[in-house]
Amino acid sequence: MLSKLSRLHFLSGVALVAGLGACATGSQSLEANSAASAEWPQIASPHSTDPETEQRIAAIVSGMSLRQKIGQMTQADIRSVTPEQVREHYLGSVLNGGGAWPGGNKRSTAGDWVALSRSFYDASMSTDMPVKVPIIWGTDAVHGHNNVFGATQFPHNIGLGAAHDPELVGRIAHLTAKQVRATGITWVFAPTLAVVQNPRWGRTYEGYSSDPELVRSYAKSFVTSMQGDLVGPDTTIASAKHFIGDGGTWLGKDQGETRASRDELIRTHAPGYFGALETGVQNVMISYSGWTDTGAGVAHGKMHGNRELITDVLKGKLGFDGFVVSDWNAIEQVDGCTRTHCPQAINAGIDMVMVPDDWKKFIDETVADVEAGTIPMSRIDDAVTRILRVKFRIGLMEHAPFLDASAEQDLASDLVRATAREAVAKSLVLLKNGPASPLPLQRDAKILLVGEAADKVTAQMGGWSLTWQGDETDDSDYPIADDMLSAVTKALGDGGSVDVSKDARGVDLSRYDAVIMVMAEAPYAEMKGDIVYPATLRHTSRYPDQLDTLARVYGKGVPVVSVLFSGRPVYANDLMNLSDAFIAAWLPGTEARGITDVLFEGTSGRPRRAFTGRLPFAWPGVPCPETANQPELFSRGFGLDTTKRGDSRPLPIDNRLSCPALAD
Ligand code: GLC
Repeated sequence: MLSKLSRLHFLSGVALVAGLGACATGSQSLEANSAASAEWPQIASPHSTDPETEQRIAAIVSGMSLRQKIGQMTQADIRSVTPEQVREHYLGSVLNGGGAWPGGNKRSTAGDWVALSRSFYDASMSTDMPVKVPIIWGTDAVHGHNNVFGATQFPHNIGLGAAHDPELVGRIAHLTAKQVRATGITWVFAPTLAVVQNPRWGRTYEGYSSDPELVRSYAKSFVTSMQGDLVGPDTTIASAKHFIGDGGTWLGKDQGETRASRDELIRTHAPGYFGALETGVQNVMISYSGWTDTGAGVAHGKMHGNRELITDVLKGKLGFDGFVVSDWNAIEQVDGCTRTHCPQAINAGIDMVMVPDDWKKFIDETVADVEAGTIPMSRIDDAVTRILRVKFRIGLMEHAPFLDASAEQDLASDLVRATAREAVAKSLVLLKNGPASPLPLQRDAKILLVGEAADKVTAQMGGWSLTWQGDETDDSDYPIADDMLSAVTKALGDGGSVDVSKDARGVDLSRYDAVIMVMAEAPYAEMKGDIVYPATLRHTSRYPDQLDTLARVYGKGVPVVSVLFSGRPVYANDLMNLSDAFIAAWLPGTEARGITDVLFEGTSGRPRRAFTGRLPFAWPGVPCPETANQPELFSRGFGLDTTKRGDSRPLPIDNRLSCPALAD
């Protein structure tokens, strides 16, 4: 069936089966007879509603004008709104989209962020409303506080998935909350809970794994640690995103159509939300994607207009009582909508609308909808109630969220850097360790580093790194970081040395004990990272120079260790054939010493850390997995360590330039 062809079968495990009416708790798993159809479980959040607070909320809402209510439901980007406009239009929220910084300054300090946040806060507290409602600022801190100059950036989620370590993910979430609070912000648009089905998707790296159960365990740990008791100075609210099925679109097309039965939606794409909801996540962000129920043969259209899933399921059956936010201008994709006018989305259950630039027109048009009866006032009151409920829960209604200047050290503290370094080490997956592999490397080794990424921190970062695409940056934008050259330099001891030759031309290799080839995908985010069918998954089709460089050093009597920075599994048989050892290092962020902690022996005579990473997704052995009988070279869960040599026979090479035509 087409939906089988259109998906790369990353699911090698048994899918989770939700029990009929099972009430999920933290410990109870949703097991049931897999033959029975899956059902949405009833989930109890640990943050119950407080009757007295609910009465206060009702009183506030009843005292608000319609325009004040719609203003509270509006989220604008900091590049398109001033504090004065926040006051004048009663805005409930702002965000900084990727590449938005205070004053448009990429190198803004934490103090600059706090100052801007305070100006928005003060403006929201100086409206003419009878009861002032403070603004809440949301940010994409998706691998640490990645928008902020000088902040340590953790590995992207795909690397954390390879670590298979929920406790580590919890520590990272807590440290990220501290980084974010140091800048005066109290809402993080994370975790992404996509269960990615096809690595063509430009957001594969924002997903943890294709294993729904791993995603669920990470969701629980992340939300618990990031939100804490909701009121502490080291907590922010989290956003479970993007509800639902964002990782299952046909051919991995970003914002595309997820073709799945209802059972698949529950068993494959929902477990992360079960984990987030059972630990009390306070926000859910809706997915750009659409859903076609392949079981019932019904095309439901875009998620942002799906009342059944947002209201009846998420808020009803699953019991979510926080607030739902739309994605960036996503309402415009709903049939009949524009980015400033979409009663369908609000009636479907969206409570806050991310309308970054045209927020004034949105307010005017939505006010008109309510006045015309297109949107019932009860829906508006419910949306505002939910937003206020969360603002009360996190203490924002009682006091400003700002910390003293000493919190700035949380951006790149020793603990933050050490934790990021640990995560990098645990994320590495050893895919090849051939007979001539030199791992672990000695401290007195003479090392040649080759490849464009050999001394580039920016090659380690991926998208969502200071800018939306992770581009338009250079290493000076990461003053507190280690690239591979500095990491290797610090790993070497007496007698050791390291040279760099980006293209390995004209080098006398006999001077070296080993070569480390460092390869990378250019950074990307969202749709800009899609590998659009019929393009193949072959890495060297996009980066032929990396194959050329590797060919200059391999088989010349000096062992070659290849390290690949990528946001997804790729077809790399040709690169592995020219490597004695091959490591998937994903997108490690600022702490490359986590890599050398595993590659090199330490002063103890053993590496600081062993290879423990395991593939979070299957690794393709063909360039066009969708049309292959055996798409996988390595199954999810595969990973060697230096005690195992693995199979190092030459792999088949397929250099086709495009994949076969597929019916739509
Ligand atoms: C983007 C992403 C979403 C992000 C939001 C705000 O388009 O889809 O993940 O949180 O906009 O930047």
